[in-house]
Amino acid sequence: APISPFIAGLPKAELHMHLEGSLEPETIMRLAARNGVRIPYANAEELRAAYSFTDLQSFLDLFYLGLTVLQTGEDFYEMTKSYLDRAAQDRVRHAEVFISPQGHLRRGIAMGTVIDNILRAFDDARREHGMTGGLIAGIQRQFDEEEALSMLRELRPWRDRIIGLGTGGPERGNRPAKFRRAYAYAKHDLGWRTTIHAGEEGGSDFVCEAIDELHVDRIDHGVRSEADPNLMRRLAETGMPLTVCPCSNIMLRVFPDMAAHNIRRLHEAGLCLTVNSDDPSYFGAYVNENFASIQQALGFSDADLWGFARNSFLSAFLNEEDRARHL
Ligand code: HPA
Ligand code: ZN
Repeated sequence: APISPFIAGLPKAELHMHLEGSLEPETIMRLAARNGVRIPYANAEELRAAYSFTDLQSFLDLFYLGLTVLQTGEDFYEMTKSYLDRAAQDRVRHAEVFISPQGHLRRGIAMGTVIDNILRAFDDARREHGMTGGLIAGIQRQFDEEEALSMLRELRPWRDRIIGLGTGGPERGNRPAKFRRAYAYAKHDLGWRTTIHAGEEGGSDFVCEAIDELHVDRIDHGVRSEADPNLMRRLAETGMPLTVCPCSNIMLRVFPDMAAHNIRRLHEAGLCLTVNSDDPSYFGAYVNENFASIQQALGFSDADLWGFARNSFLSAFLNEEDRARHL
């Protein structure tokens, strides 16, 4: 969908994107060559042609392959700075991004190599673009809770520079309560805010469990909440934010096409919704394309889109100083 001047100029916060999901195929091939990592595709075009997914797992397989090209601190810096520069062009004024530390630690990369270089890119984006941002550590939910806890203990030295805990990986077979102790540790020992992917491939019961047992501050995706009318009423009454990723949902076949996406019904039910890109390279859509696609397919007014952007700042894990700057 074409990006209207209104969407292009709309100040927005992006609250749901995975940094490793911003690596473009050209960057993956370039870093693979630079670092001597084998990627079983001849060139960027072939790799991009493989971005045709049937479900969440078929995407995750390529996502975990792509991130193996990240080896040095400079790689993490470049990935982060490229995304933030691109987001600044989309008038993203505040970005809260997930990383998957386990995907790097398991390959023998030191935590400091990952975190220090990502934070350095955030500092540069603040200086160059006036953007604010924050890093959310994502548990890979296919692995056990002990590994998640050990990652969190390793992140302790950076606890004041990381804003929250989230998740990545397959929902199916990995319910929210699997990480009860990890979420309690993040909230009470590290002082972080929390969010979780729920109701993307998991059912509305995963959303209920995340709220009741993990006490999260936001829900990532959450679109399958619609199956439970009681939950829908609760979400509306409490103003629980949902970080919706419309183009991701089409690419991973949560809905057959954008006209069938339920974001308009979620909006009409009074939920607090935000619009996000999830994995912009893999899904071929940065945040403005997500706004443009839902407007084109579902007829949202500019005022509706303004409301989603406003919600994104209201739902952000902003400190007092940055809150005053944006609101
Ligand atoms: N869903 C689940 N896990 C992920 C995603 C996603 O969209 N992106 C990266 N890890
Ligand atoms: Zn996601």
